[in-house]
Parts: sequence; structure tokens; C-alpha cells
Amino acid sequence: MIASSLLYGLLAAASTATAYSPAKYTNYTVVKGIFQQDDDATNPSTFNFTASNFGLIPRSYPSDDSYPDSKQSTQWQRLAHYIDTLNKKTKRKERYTLFFMGRHGEGYHNAAETYFGTPAWNCYWSELDGNSTVTWADAHLTEQGVVQAKRVNTFWKHLIKDEKISPPEKYYSSPLYRCLDTARLTFADLDLPHKNRFQPIIKENLREGVSAHTCDRRSSKTYIKKNFPEFKFESGFAKEDPYWQELHSEPRANQDARSKEVIDEIFSQDDESYISISSHSGEIASLLRVLGHRVFSLSTGSVIPVLVKADLVIGDAPATTTLPYAAQKTCTAPPTIRDSSCNDCSCCL
Ligand SMILES: *[C@@H]1O[C@H](CO)[C@@H](O)[C@H](O)[C@H]1NC(C)=O
Ligand SMILES: *[C@@H]1O[C@H](CO)[C@@H](O)[C@H](O)[C@H]1NC(C)=O
Ligand SMILES: *[C@@H]1O[C@H](CO)[C@@H](O)[C@H](O)[C@H]1NC(C)=O
Repeated sequence: MIASSLLYGLLAAASTATAYSPAKYTNYTVVKGIFQQDDDATNPSTFNFTASNFGLIPRSYPSDDSYPDSKQSTQWQRLAHYIDTLNKKTKRKERYTLFFMGRHGEGYHNAAETYFGTPAWNCYWSELDGNSTVTWADAHLTEQGVVQAKRVNTFWKHLIKDEKISPPEKYYSSPLYRCLDTARLTFADLDLPHKNRFQPIIKENLREGVSAHTCDRRSSKTYIKKNFPEFKFESGFAKEDPYWQELHSEPRANQDARSKEVIDEIFSQDDESYISISSHSGEIASLLRVLGHRVFSLSTGSVIPVLVKADLVIGDAPATTTLPYAAQKTCTAPPTIRDSSCNDCSCCL
């Protein structure tokens, strides 16, 4: 698939270097009918991805006839053959990539929100680094969070051994501790081909929507390097957090713009057909918006597969707007109300 990356590269270079060449951009579509998660009839709050073979729908594919022995194959093997076939089609301006997007396991910030209630969490506690017993700034995984990630590891082992899934060929992670740790636990000692071994890359733009919560402030590059020596950084990764601002939050438009940027980067740089992303609930929701997938919220430790078709389209890319960060309201003492009527901090004393 080197050729298609070259094509993308040349087109990208051409559109910036020569004024008269037509502008091009990449448009994304979710290929429906492959996974239950993109079907409106599937209820995200009760859906169990490990109990349902990742949501892979048992069906035939147009390419089944050319599979060497389709009676002896698993659904995942026939899907891989289908994706291969799609990517080999002559029309090289389109590409198909299967993403596995995983939310981190439970972190101390998740446990604290449950403990204090959302209003007190949002309007008071989340702006602190922690209390006298627990730290939730760049939160680590709780014991439960570690268990969740290890369950996903067991699930991958089962998928590789019994279902003959094509595992990820490339791994990306948010720079926040809970995602790095989740990725490391999830992909520990899997039976992977040498060229696709776990060599994760940290991408700034896979981080959670930046709120005033200290759990959204990342640690320094030095700290990350020390704790996750097996991870690489994307080029240009800043030494210190370039985004987080005290008592301010990132508008949704900005988050979607950087989600689009990260997807564009992945498609212009990588030829892999299977890509793992370790990220957050809010950020995966943003990636799904950018890709045109329906809303599908993930509980901590859950993973969603998304088959994406990327098309090079002639024309100007739809404009993206970014806005200034918004000031975030807080209370000087934690509100006692626990219901969502005070999620906007209107009930401060
Ligand atoms: C871009 O993709 C969307 C689906 O995500 C589709 O509805 C639209 O027609 C596509 N646009 C172009 C110009 O291909
Ligand atoms: C999901 O299904 C698995 C079996 O694959 C089961 O062990 C697990 O408890 C289920 N999770 C939930 C939240 O029901
Ligand atoms: C600190 O917060 C945690 C919630 O994550 C709670 O379990 C713990 O009891 C709190 N510590 C104190 C001293 O209140």
C-alpha cells in the first residue's frame, strides 16, 4: 500500500506548491453494516463488546467468493479479506481503515466524580489536583481501571487465537497517563507479528477535551518518557502542556478541529489498515463526529471498532472555525446538590 500513501503525499504537496492545481481534501465515511455499533437499533448503554465478538455482524461479504476457503474461515478472516479487496481496487483515491478506539479504564478522576457527585466535582473538586488522600491531576488508573484494561488484554488474546482477527498494525495514544497505562496493559504480551509489535506513538491531539479539570492537564514530556519508555512521541511534541489553561475550557469546535487534524495526519502518514487509538470518552465522541459515526458513548475500559472509508475529494475542504477558550465557572465551596440541575455551577452558595 506504499503507492497509495505516495499518491496522498504527492497530491498534498501539489495542492500547496502550485497555485493552479485544484484543491483536494479527504472526506470520511463510516462503512455501515459491518459492526452493530453503527446501527441505530443498538443501545450503547447495554451493549457489551466482549460478549458480542466486538459487535462484528455475522454476514457474507462481496469478496467471500475469492477467499481461498471460505468454509474454514472465521468472520474476522473474511472481513480482513474484504478490507484487502477494497484497498486493492483500482480506484486508489479511496482507502479503508479499521480503527479500534479504546477508552481508558477507570481513573481516580472518574471515581472521584462518582464519589462527590457531578455538580460538586465540576464546580469545585475537579479544579484541585486532588484531596488529602487521592491525586486526580493527570489521573492514574484505579485498581478497577487496571482490571478493565487487563480484561481487554484477555479479549485480544482470545480474538487473535480463536477468532483469527487482524490485530492493530499501528498504535496511537493520548498523552494522558490513564490512556498510556491502559494501552500498555491492553497490548501486553500479545502474539503479534514482529513488524506490528506494540510500538505506540503519543499524539497530543488524542487527548481529552481540555477543560479546567486538572485531570485534563498533561504531565511533562520528561515525566511521560520516564514512566512510559516504550512509547514514542510524534514529532514536535511539546515539553510542557501547550493547551491546558487554568479555569478555561476548550470549545467543542476546537476539539473537533484537532480531531480532524489527527485523522488527516494518520491517513496521510500511515498505510496500515488496522489502527488502535487509546483515548477518552469525550475525545472518542469527537473523533466519531468527525468521521460521521453516530453517537456511541463508551463506559470506562470499552473499545469500539470503526471501519472508515477515506476519499480524496476535489474542492475546498469545509472550513473549520476555532474559538477562544471559554472561562469556566466554579464555586468557592463544593455545592451540596447532587443532581444535574447544577452541572453549570448555578447553585454555588
Ligand atoms: C463526505 O462524506 C459524507 C459522509 O460522511 C457524505 O455524506 C458526503 O457526500 C461526502 N462528500 C463528498 C464531497 O464526497
Ligand atoms: C460482558 O460480557 C462478558 C463475557 O464476554 C462478561 O464477562 C462481562 O461481565 C460482561 N460485562 C458486563 C458489563 O456485563
Ligand atoms: C478523597 O476523595 C476520594 C474520592 O476519590 C475519597 O474516596 C476519599 O475518601 C477522599 N479523602 C478524604 C480525606 O476525604
